[in-house]
Amino acid sequence: MLVNKYIIFFIRSEKGTFYALDLGDTNFRVLRVELGGQRSSLHPDVEQHPIPNLLMSGRSEDLFDFIASSLHQFIEKGNDSEQSPITKELGFTFSFPVNQTSVSSGILIKWTKGLAIKDMVGKEVAGSLQQALARKGLNMQVTVLVNDTVGTLALGHYHDADTVAAVIIGTGTNACYWERTDAIIKCQGRLTTSGGMVVNMEWGNFWSAHLPRTSYDIELDAESPNPNDQGFEKMISGMYLGDIVRRVILRMWEESDIFVSVSSKSSMPFALRMPSMAAMHADDSPELTEVARILKDDLDIPDVPLKARKLVVKVCDVVTCRAARLAAAGIVGILKKIGRDGSGGITGGRSRSDIKMRRTVVAVEGSLFTQYTMFREYLQGALHEILGEDVARHVILMDTEDGSGTGAALLAASY
Ligand code: GLC
Repeated sequence: MLVNKYIIFFIRSEKGTFYALDLGDTNFRVLRVELGGQRSSLHPDVEQHPIPNLLMSGRSEDLFDFIASSLHQFIEKGNDSEQSPITKELGFTFSFPVNQTSVSSGILIKWTKGLAIKDMVGKEVAGSLQQALARKGLNMQVTVLVNDTVGTLALGHYHDADTVAAVIIGTGTNACYWERTDAIIKCQGRLTTSGGMVVNMEWGNFWSAHLPRTSYDIELDAESPNPNDQGFEKMISGMYLGDIVRRVILRMWEESDIFVSVSSKSSMPFALRMPSMAAMHADDSPELTEVARILKDDLDIPDVPLKARKLVVKVCDVVTCRAARLAAAGIVGILKKIGRDGSGGITGGRSRSDIKMRRTVVAVEGSLFTQYTMFREYLQGALHEILGEDVARHVILMDTEDGSGTGAALLAASY
C-alpha cells in the first residue's frame, strides 16, 4: 500500500487559470480549469491525445517531450501566453504505482496497463516532466504529482464534502481513501495538520488465495506483459474484460461445434475491446445483429448462428457481473475500514441497528462505470446486497467525469 504524503487542501477561494496533465494509459489529457472564486461547477477544457505506439515502449525522454509539446500547443491555442513572467503551477496526474516522496515528487515503481518504458522505472516522475517542460521553454512548475484516484477524490470532495473515497474503474482499477494518520502504520509518527492523509491503495495488485481464478484468468495473466502482477485489476478493469470474453469464445469453438470457424484474428490478444463487449452486452435486437457485426468486424468470425450469439451475450454478462461484484467488494472493504459500512468500524462492535449511518460519498471515474450500463447496475446491486438496503441507501456513488485531471488542477491551485 502506498501512501501519498500530503493532505488534500480544498479550494474555496482561488482565482485564475490552472493546468493539469493526466497520464494514465494509452491516451493522455491536457486540461485547463478556470477558477472563479466561487464554489461553482467546473467546466475544464480538455484535449485528449493518443500516445503513439512507439513512445509506449521507447525512451522516457521522448514520451515526456511529446507530452510537453502537446501542453505547449494547448496553451498557445488558448491564447494564454506561456511566456508570462509568472511561473504557472501544473498538476500532474500520473496513474501508475509511485513511491511518493513529497507532494510534488515520486519515483515510478513499475508500469501497469501495458506501458513499458524501461528506463523510467526507478526515476523521479515529476522531475522528468519538469526537464521536458524546460526543454520546451515552458515557464511552468510541477507543483503536484498525484495518482488518478487522488485527483478524483479531490474533485469529489470539491463537489461534495461527504466524499470519503475515490475509485477508478477504467483501463485499470484502483482506489484511495482518507485515513487518520495514526491508523497508517507506514506513517510512523509523521503528522499532518489535518490529522489525516490520503492512502492510494493500488488495489489492482490485491490478491488473495480465496479469490478463485478460472483457466481464462490464468492464461490471460501468463500471456500479459506483467505476469503474476495486478491480479485484481485483470479480473475487473476495461483493459482485460474483453480479452477474457475472447478467450471463452475461442474455447467454445475448440470444444464444441457451436462456432463453425474462427480466424487468426480471434487468437490475437486484446482483439476484442471493452467498448465492443459493452455494445454486444447491450444488444437487445431479436437477431442480435450488433453481436454478429462485432464478432465479424473485431474477431473476423462471420455467420455466427443466433444460438451462439446468445451465448456470447451470456459470457459478456457473466464476466461483467463478476468484475462489478469484485469492485463492489473492494468498495465495501474501504467502507468497513473507515467505519462506514454500518457495522461500527473495526473497533466499534455495535450492532447494525444501533449505528446511525452518515451520508457517505464515493467518487467514481472510469469508462466501465460511465459507459457500461450493465456493469454499473451490477455494481450498485452488489453494494446493496452486501451492505443491506438500510446502509446502502446512505452510500452514494458520484460520477466524476475527468475527475483525475481536474482534481490535479485544483490541487495545483491550492499550492
Ligand atoms: C493501475 C495503476 C494505478 C491506477 C489505476 C487506474 O492500477 O497501477 O496507479 O490508479 O491503474 O488508472
